[in-house]
Parts: sequence; C-alpha cells; structure tokens
Amino acid sequence: MAWPRVPCLLLILLLLLQTCLPQPGPPSPPSVPQCHIPYTEGQQAGIHCFWEPGQDPQIPTSYRLCWNSTEGGSGFVEGTNVSGVIPRDLYSSYSYMTVLVRAENQHGSAKSKTVEFNSGDIKKPPTPKITDHCPQPLGIYWTLQCNDLGSSDQHCEVQYRTQDQQGWTQEDQLLRNFLLLTPRPYTVYEFQVRCACEGPEALMSDWSSVYTAQSSESAPVKALDVWSDCGVTSELSQCALMWKEMPTWLAQGKVLGYVVTLSHSNGTVKVVNVSTSELDGPCVCQEKRCRFTPSLQGVSGVDVSVYNSQGASKPAPLALPTLGLQVPELSFTVNLDILSLNVSWSLPPQAIENMQEYVVQYKKMGLPLTKGFDWIKVHKKNTSIILRGDFEKHTAYNVSLFAVFINSSCLLASTIGYSLHGLPPKVPVFNVQQIADSDVTLSWQHISLNQSKGLILRYQLVLNNFTVYNVSADQSSFHLLGLTPGHHQVWIRAETKAGLGPSETISFSTKNSHGYLRYLLPLILILILLPFVIILSIQMKTCFLVPEWCCEKGPDPSNSKLFQQMTLQFNSSLTVICSPLESNPKISELEVVENLFWDVKACPRKRSSPDGQTEGMLGEERTHTRTDTESGSLSGDDQFVSDYEKHFMPLDV
Ligand SMILES: *[C@@H]1O[C@H](CO)[C@@H](O)[C@H](O)[C@H]1NC(C)=O
Ligand SMILES: *[C@@H]1O[C@H](CO)[C@@H](O)[C@H](O)[C@H]1NC(C)=O
Ligand SMILES: *[C@@H]1O[C@H](CO)[C@@H](O)[C@H](O)[C@H]1NC(C)=O
Ligand SMILES: *[C@@H]1O[C@H](CO)[C@@H](O)[C@H](O)[C@H]1NC(C)=O
Ligand SMILES: *[C@@H]1O[C@H](CO)[C@@H](O)[C@H](O)[C@H]1NC(C)=O
Ligand SMILES: *[C@@H]1O[C@H](CO)[C@@H](O)[C@H](O)[C@H]1NC(C)=O
Ligand SMILES: *[C@@H]1O[C@H](CO)[C@@H](O)[C@H](O)[C@H]1NC(C)=O
Ligand SMILES: *[C@@H]1O[C@H](CO)[C@@H](O)[C@H](O)[C@H]1NC(C)=O
Ligand SMILES: *[C@@H]1O[C@H](CO)[C@@H](O)[C@H](O)[C@H]1NC(C)=O
Repeated sequence: MAWPRVPCLLLILLLLLQTCLPQPGPPSPPSVPQCHIPYTEGQQAGIHCFWEPGQDPQIPTSYRLCWNSTEGGSGFVEGTNVSGVIPRDLYSSYSYMTVLVRAENQHGSAKSKTVEFNSGDIKKPPTPKITDHCPQPLGIYWTLQCNDLGSSDQHCEVQYRTQDQQGWTQEDQLLRNFLLLTPRPYTVYEFQVRCACEGPEALMSDWSSVYTAQSSESAPVKALDVWSDCGVTSELSQCALMWKEMPTWLAQGKVLGYVVTLSHSNGTVKVVNVSTSELDGPCVCQEKRCRFTPSLQGVSGVDVSVYNSQGASKPAPLALPTLGLQVPELSFTVNLDILSLNVSWSLPPQAIENMQEYVVQYKKMGLPLTKGFDWIKVHKKNTSIILRGDFEKHTAYNVSLFAVFINSSCLLASTIGYSLHGLPPKVPVFNVQQIADSDVTLSWQHISLNQSKGLILRYQLVLNNFTVYNVSADQSSFHLLGLTPGHHQVWIRAETKAGLGPSETISFSTKNSHGYLRYLLPLILILILLPFVIILSIQMKTCFLVPEWCCEKGPDPSNSKLFQQMTLQFNSSLTVICSPLESNPKISELEVVENLFWDVKACPRKRSSPDGQTEGMLGEERTHTRTDTESGSLSGDDQFVSDYEKHFMPLDV
C-alpha cells in the first residue's frame, strides 16, 4: 500500500528543488555599456565598451555589442561577458551612435538599455606622467598633452596614500603639480594622477602609473622609552640601561645615534655619543631593544635621547631603582600563555604619592642581563595589561610590577609565571640522615627555577610504596619519626600543574630499638646520683666529676711520708677514694748545688710547677735538675726527707 506514495513524494521534492534552485532561463539584461576611444599615438583605436553582465546565468551565454550610427549604418560584434570593441573601420569619426548589449543563451535573450554618443566626444586624453617630486614640501609634477585633442585646458585628479594605507585620498587639481602640505615626515607616499582635457564630454584619462616619493626628515618629537634590567637586585651598579628603538614614524628620520648622559653623584657629567654605525661595544641594539652596559655605579641621573639629521629628541630620564620606599601590598596576578602575558593587579588602598605610571617587566629566568627581557609602561589608572610575545613553554618568567616616579622607580610586586607547566625533573641531592634509631631526616635540594619546567606545587614523599607525605614546595627537608626497625625505601617526586615528575629513591635501614626507655632510665639514674657524687668529691677534695678549674691541683698530702706514716696506722678507706687522682704521682728530685756567682739576669723566672717539674731558664751548669717519675726511687742520702718535703718545703729545710 505504501509503494504508490513514493513516486508522489519524489515528485513533490523535485518540484520544491526546481522552485528553490536558480532556474536555467533567459539571461538577465546587462548594464548600459560605457564606451570610449583609448588614447593612441598615430592611428585611432576602436571604440571600447564595458558592461556588467548581470546575474551569472550558469549556462553558456553569448554577448553581442550592437550599434546604429548616422554615418556607416548599423552593425554588431561578439564580445566577452564584460566588454567588446567596435573596430575603427566600422564606425566613422564624429558620427552620432546608439549602442546596446544583447545577451543570449539557449533559453532566450535580453537587451541592455541604449547609450548615445558622438564618436568625436569619447576620445580619452593621454595618460599623464609624473616626472619629478620635491621632498620639502612634498610635491609631484606631471606632464600632459591636451593640445593633441585641440584643447589646452585641463583638470586633473590626484590620489595619494602612504605605503601602509589601503585606501587613497583624492584631490582635484587644475595645475600640473600637486603639493602635500603636511606630510608625515620621513614617510614614503604613493601618487597617481589622471586628467581630462577641456571639451564637451571631458573624459578622464587612465590613472598614471604609481609614483613613490619620500617626505623629508624632521627632528624626533617623542622621547625614548627608557628602562633598566637590574637582575634580581635593585643595586644600581648591577643595572643595564635599556631603551626601545623608536619606530621610524616617531623618529621622523633615519636614526643616526643616541646620546647617553650620566650624571654622577660627585657632580661629574659624562656624555656618551654613540652613532648607529658603531653600535657595538657598550651600546648594542637588537630586536628593537638597545642596551648600554657600562655600570651605573655612582650615577644619580641618566637620560637618553635619539638624534637624526634634523635634531635630537628631548632627553628621556631613567627612573632609577630605589629601595626602602613604603609601598602598599597589592594582589598581583599573572596569566601566561605561549602568545600573551596577562598581568593584573589591585589598586593600592590609597594612591601612591607622586606616582606617574606603572611599568610591567618580564624576564626569562636563567639568562644574563638584558636577555629575554622586556617591559611596558602602563597608565596609572590601569590595573591590567596584556603583552603580546613569544613565550617559551616550560620556562620560568619573572614578572614584576613597578611604580614609576619622576626619576625613580620602586618594585611593587613580582611573581614567577610559566607559559605552560611541564613535568618537573628529578629532585637533586636527596639525602638521608639518621637522628635516632627510629627517626631519620630526609633532605634534598630545590629544583632551580630554570630547570623546574613548571611551578613546583609540592613534593611528594612515598615511604615503602605505601605511606604518602605531602611536603610544601618551600621545604627542603622532612623528618620521618617512629620508623619500624628494618629496611626502608623513600621516593621523592616534585609536582607541578602538569603532574608528578620522575622519582628519586633512597634506601636505609633502622636498627632494633626498645624506644626511649633504654636511654631514659640510665639518664635519670645519672641525674639523681650526680649531686651526691659532686658533694662527695668536693668533700674529699678530689677532682672526680668536678670540673678541673674548680679543683686546683694542689699538693696532695698523702704523698708526704709524714702523712703516710701517720695514716698508716688508721688505714682509712678514705685514702682509697682520694688516691685515684695521684695514684701515680710524678715526683721530682731536686738537687741543689750552691753557687756563689748567681746571675740574676740569666734567670728571670724560677718557679716550680705543681706537678713537680722545674720550669725556667736555669743555667744548665749551675743547677742540675733530675726528673724522676718513678715514685719509689728515692735518693739514698735523704731517706727521711721524702720527695714531698723536698718538693714543697722551703729549700733550706
Ligand atoms: C538600430 O535600429 C533598429 C531599427 O530601427 C532598431 O531595431 C535597433 O534596436 C537599433 N539598435 C540600436 C543599438 O539602437
Ligand atoms: C566573465 O567570464 C569570465 C570567464 O569567462 C569569468 O571569470 C568572470 O567572472 C565573468 N565576469 C562576470 C562579471 O561575471
Ligand atoms: C624577579 O624580579 C624582581 C625584580 O627585578 C626581583 O626583585 C626578584 O628577586 C626576582 N625574582 C626571582 C625569583 O628571581
Ligand atoms: C653626537 O655626534 C653627532 C655626530 O658625530 C653630532 O652630530 C651630534 O651633535 C653629537 N651630539 C652630542 C650631544 O654631542
Ligand atoms: C666622579 O665619579 C665617577 C664615577 O664614580 C668617576 O669616574 C669620576 O672620576 C669622579 N669625578 C670626580 C671629580 O671625582
Ligand atoms: C586577564 O586576567 C584577569 C585576571 O586574572 C582576567 O580577569 C582577565 O579576563 C584576563 N584577560 C584576558 C584577555 O585573558
Ligand atoms: C629627581 O629629580 C628632581 C628634580 O629634577 C631632583 O630634585 C631630585 O634630586 C631627583 N632625584 C633623584 C633620586 O635623582
Ligand atoms: C613498589 O611498587 C612497585 C609496583 O607498584 C613495585 O614494582 C616495587 O617493587 C615496589 N617497591 C617496594 C619497595 O615495595
Ligand atoms: C597530597 O596532596 C594531593 C593533592 O592536593 C592530595 O590529593 C592528597 O590527598 C594529599 N595527600 C596527603 C597524604 O595529604
């Protein structure tokens, strides 16, 4: 039952298509033809006619140019879709003519409206020729032969534009020259002229070929854009002076050089005149930025001007970086991508006094001064700027905001941005240090900004494939406490927006331990006992556990034979306690030789040190000193007078 309906639907579709699509049919009528006889030297040319074919007929269509004339009758020629030529031998000069265009295809034909003219009036004058110009004021001169057409009067049209403009500016001119009164200095202009010789129809000639002429130079009016790259410091001695090359239309001439004036704080003013022909050494211009590298140490003012053949710009002062200014806290946001840098900041809570403008600068990290560096001045009312550029991905840029005063500048904020965050590399120098049996300190070095490929958000530590610790990006060590005894493995990975980097691993072992008590108990015992021992040792006059300085090493009476004999009977145990210190005393035996010729000067000092050794510059021949460390060896004569008495008692005992 459904089958018969299908052809019906197809039919409807076809009908719809036919009404919607352009129908093949007779062509639409062309526009009225415009006819003229081009200028030729010598023999006259045919009549050239031009028209618009109307809507594109989509099918082959022929165009025919038809005419009737008072002399020579009627005729036609086949043309293209837009033009046709009536040959010279088919029309007579100064005859009245009617002309139309007829378009025809397989479906039918259409005629344009008719144009009427006298073949004597449609001659084009010769094309004028611009022959010369003068640069100041910018003017052009041209030649034209209207005399051939029996007329000496003319009127012309001039059109001009600068090379970077699209459209032309047109002006009428009756003379054979044209002056541009206020041209842009040092600019290339293009000119064209066409003219009509006075006559009934006064057809315009074709446009002359384009003539280019450059206006003359004039002194630059704008000041240079001067700034400095001081690296991470604001130390003037570290700064490189920089300025932007002036675009030609502002320089208003060929830049011949720059004049840098350095005023020193001691009053000396140094003027450096660098010509562009010798731009190397201290002053180099590259990629539209110039840098001047002599140190600015001791400089209190710097300005730069640019000069061309007509004069110099007004000196542009460098806003010297200053420290120690009270600046408000600003929020500072930087969005960086490969092609643009979007910097925005908050308005300071109260206006910064005397501030003239902001400067936003950026610096590719890890490059020497002035490299990968650019800046832009921003009006003080603005709080954001978008810089176009070619920003490398995975690269750190230091973006800073400055406030600029009359001749000083001051850092307001700075931050690090990446055009695209990449995965960070391994964390360098990963170390472990055991601080106790079950505690370790892990330490590492930060990845440097020009290697990190992205902003490090945090470090991730993984203990034994299991426990994960997040460590903030500004830390470079971590304490692992209470580790179980045994072998451990720790991974460390840095993390950026792009993810976690490769891990660095460290392995270590912790010893068996019973916790703190093992150390704590003996320590408490020692602390409890210590005061008793000290008191005891002071009472016993021994230096045991008492600092040496508080226990002057004096003669130990126990070494005295007298004392020994006395104490022998008591056999006190105290002696045993006191004895360790001088259990092995050094006993000196001093043999005194009487000398009548005592030379005082030869012996400025003579004293016995407590340990029994005789110090001093005793004359070797006069005093004979024998030192004996063995306590038992006593001189045979002095059996009664022991070493002690010899040593510490007055000599004449
Ligand atoms: C020329 O004259 C003929 C006859 O009068 C007329 O049909 C035709 O349209 C004319 N053609 C033009 C171009 O005027
Ligand atoms: C005239 O025909 C040419 C090709 O024969 C075509 O390229 C051109 O577009 C046509 N001009 C117009 C105005 O239809
Ligand atoms: C970024 O530049 C500013 C201004 O020169 C500087 O003060 C700051 O230290 C720089 N930051 C880094 C991380 O180098
Ligand atoms: C700099 O040198 C140029 C050419 O050498 C000279 O014309 C100009 O006057 C000099 N400018 C100054 C300020 O010395
Ligand atoms: C002033 O200082 C500059 C640089 O600091 C030095 O070159 C110059 O000789 C000094 N002039 C005087 C007069 O001290
Ligand atoms: C620039 O950044 C600011 C703040 O982050 C944002 O509001 C603004 O839309 C950004 N502009 C462009 C063009 O991305
Ligand atoms: C800034 O310029 C003013 C006026 O020109 C001057 O008085 C002042 O000393 C200059 N300040 C510095 C830091 O050079
Ligand atoms: C950690 O886990 C990985 C796979 O998940 C395994 O290859 C590796 O041996 C493990 N390491 C340790 C120490 O368990
Ligand atoms: C570590 O930080 C990541 C990312 O913020 C989070 O997903 C994770 O839960 C954190 N882990 C720990 C142990 O805090």
